[in-house]
Amino acid sequence: KLPAPFQVPLPIPPVKKPLRSDAKADYYQVVQRAASLEILPGLKTEIIGYDGLLPGPTFDVRSGRTSVIEQVNQLDVSTVVHLHGGHTPAPSDGWPVDLIMPANGGHDMTGGHQMMGGDMTMGKRTYTYPNAQRAATLWYHDHTMDYTAPRVYHGLFGLHIIRDAEEDNLPLPKDDREIPLVIADRAFDADGSFLYPASKDGPGVEPAYMEGVVADVTLVNGAPWPVHEVDAVRYRLRILNAANARRYELAFDKGPARFVQIGSDGGLLDTPIEHTTLVIAPAERFDVIVDFSQYRPGDEVTVVNKLDGNANVMRFRIARKAADDTRIPATLSTYAVTPRPSGVVRREWRFRRGNAGDHRGWTINGKAFDPQVMQAQVKLDQYEIWTFVTDVHHPVHVHLAPFQVLTRGGKSKLSEYDHGWKDTVDIRPAEVVEVLVRFSAHKGKYLIHCHNLEHEDMAMMAGFETI
Ligand code: C2O
Ligand code: CU
Repeated sequence: KLPAPFQVPLPIPPVKKPLRSDAKADYYQVVQRAASLEILPGLKTEIIGYDGLLPGPTFDVRSGRTSVIEQVNQLDVSTVVHLHGGHTPAPSDGWPVDLIMPANGGHDMTGGHQMMGGDMTMGKRTYTYPNAQRAATLWYHDHTMDYTAPRVYHGLFGLHIIRDAEEDNLPLPKDDREIPLVIADRAFDADGSFLYPASKDGPGVEPAYMEGVVADVTLVNGAPWPVHEVDAVRYRLRILNAANARRYELAFDKGPARFVQIGSDGGLLDTPIEHTTLVIAPAERFDVIVDFSQYRPGDEVTVVNKLDGNANVMRFRIARKAADDTRIPATLSTYAVTPRPSGVVRREWRFRRGNAGDHRGWTINGKAFDPQVMQAQVKLDQYEIWTFVTDVHHPVHVHLAPFQVLTRGGKSKLSEYDHGWKDTVDIRPAEVVEVLVRFSAHKGKYLIHCHNLEHEDMAMMAGFETI
């Protein structure tokens, strides 16, 4: 029996404190461990989390200051950490077989991957993130080959927010009027434990879940259908869809509030975009302003998911009138909307269900992920136009560099959700999307993959090498 919605207050993940700092860097330690949390009132759920939390702690860092993060694995499975949206040197990017083996030996399931040329470490690994990129809402999560979906489902995900002076200078809501909303769906057994339909023989899920795992409880910041009290003023919401496979079309159950989008995966837009609903695919981020002064103290407004019969997501309770000196500037940021350069390299990436040799599942360009095989060699600083082609719906993610969407379905008039710098783009069934991308600075092995995590685990992932 599921709890009533809007009983649990919205938790805000704690901000991670560095152990020490010097002129250029902040040094942190995170312990990946099991914990027993009260997610559903009155029940205990065993999770695996960064510092034993779900979501993990939030990294709140400055652009240009390096984060050095020692990740200690106290779980009984191997793990890999990836900073999603990070412009990260390859050794710290979380290559899926660069495993952190369990400190205690454990009963690791992914032992076979030792043979796959990964750079394994025992018990811990230090990841270095230069954060040499504009302000943006990033997130970090597990990226273990074949097991990302169950690791993330059980708790290995958290936010990594980069801030910079350009953003600081805007008159946007801040402090407790800037709220992260990490949305994810989970299923629970009667005793409170997570239900995940893992395959009985090896990686992946039961055949019925090939399309991806969707579940009946919506968690926001780890709480089921929470409620949050707000003043009748503007708020900034940093929304992340951290679900394995579910899409959301977020809407308010009663007007007049709208979502004024100010940022995308890769930071601020040039100008704000007003949305009545917000379609958000797995791994996408939308940075929005909502003006609650359009409601009266005592009003309640519910965020629902229109793609799931207006199912509840969370509720805001408008508590009181308050002063508000924020506004939404007509110009948020200036960045080059890159003209389509001529003579660029073109590549096509086809995302399809299919078999490849022994592999049954999902493929890119007809191939299953193999950490020994690079599907492309990409020159640094070279503009490329990448064409993504789908069979069914796939949220496509590229590591290392953000991209700009050029065309969708053959049209260069972009969908209202495609603006700004993206690192994940949702490609609808049988659709073609072209993006302009350019990698810089870091040579090495990187990934392109579907961010439906069950598709990813069933090999819809490809390596490419920057040279
Ligand atoms: Cu958010 Cu390669 O992943
Ligand atoms: Cu997919």
